[in-house]
Amino acid sequence: MKVTVLGAAGGIGQSLALLLKVELPAFTDLALYDIAPVTPGVAVDISHIPTSVKVKGYCGEDPSEALAGADLVMISAGIARKPGMTRADLFNINAGIVRDLVAKAAKYAPNACIGIITNPVNTLVAVAAEELKKAGVYDKRKLFGVTTLDVIRAKTFVAELKGLDVSKVKVPVIGGHSGPTILPLLSQAYFENKKIEFSQAEIDSLTHRIKNAGTEVVEAKAGAGSATMSMAESGARFATAVIKALAGEDIVRYAYVEGDENDGYPRFFARPVRFGRNGIEAFLPVGTLSDYEQKLLDESLPILHEDIALGEQFVREG
Ligand SMILES: NC(=O)c1ccc[n+]([C@@H]2O[C@H](COP(=O)([O-])OP(=O)(O)OC[C@H]3O[C@@H](n4cnc5c(N)ncnc54)[C@H](O)[C@@H]3O)[C@@H](O)[C@H]2O)c1
Repeated sequence: MKVTVLGAAGGIGQSLALLLKVELPAFTDLALYDIAPVTPGVAVDISHIPTSVKVKGYCGEDPSEALAGADLVMISAGIARKPGMTRADLFNINAGIVRDLVAKAAKYAPNACIGIITNPVNTLVAVAAEELKKAGVYDKRKLFGVTTLDVIRAKTFVAELKGLDVSKVKVPVIGGHSGPTILPLLSQAYFENKKIEFSQAEIDSLTHRIKNAGTEVVEAKAGAGSATMSMAESGARFATAVIKALAGEDIVRYAYVEGDENDGYPRFFARPVRFGRNGIEAFLPVGTLSDYEQKLLDESLPILHEDIALGEQFVREG
């Protein structure tokens, strides 16, 4: 198997590369690409870590060698959010970067799964899908917006508030990947096999915190960027799960993906999916929402539809 990280010299990219070197199954190839000249050095640096993951770094304008034969491409190339910027503000710069990188992936790794980390995820996954369609290689089972960070934040915040062992806490998070569209389903939060009960005040504050956790980091870093290490850890978890699934393991994870037509959700929606040898094998139900969650979902749907339409339009109108 081969995993390629595009944007590998960035705040997320370097930590993601480090974690993948340590966590990917033995004998996976890891290719690191970034326009930044430091990238081959990043690869040499982590190549000294004693695992059998083989790492190689590439820089410059041409990602073709890094992409050739990749099974999974993780994209974190682009600019990160600064205080006062929304994920939508990132769109104009990052949409062009992701569109061009996806076009190269379509050419040099047409069968690869692609995980989009770069924001705004809601829109850039639609950009990637349209670009892959243009190249004639789109397979909706192989394109994912990486929303794992929302899921791990929800686990962490619930465990913290309730004083629980975080490794045994499960909290579904569906919808999109921006404040108004992230939807934690606290009505389906479990500690081992036991449902976790919340007061309305706890639901209000946890929901608000999970939805706006990205901003919590942006403000705390005071101008120096957005989440990098927690995102890298989530990205490594996600990439490792996908690689294991491609090798035959049956794995369920949350991701922002194109669902079945007429399932009642926007074209792209974060939900639980079963991964297997061909990428997504099945879309799993999101379960019953509380009235509170249903109201938030209803409010977020027009925003998601708009985010997706913006991405589709970006590629169609060139
Ligand atoms: N999905 C999520 O949950 C999540 C969480 C946090 C951040 N993000 C997003 O991830 C992205 C990266 O964040 P970061 O903190 O690593 O930013 P960063 O600025 O530290 O790194 C971005 C890297 O992309 C590289 N790059 C730019 N254009 C490129 C191109 N055409 N080809 C290859 N590489 C290119 C830059 O050289 C840089 O090294 C941002 O858009 C950020 O908003 C997503």
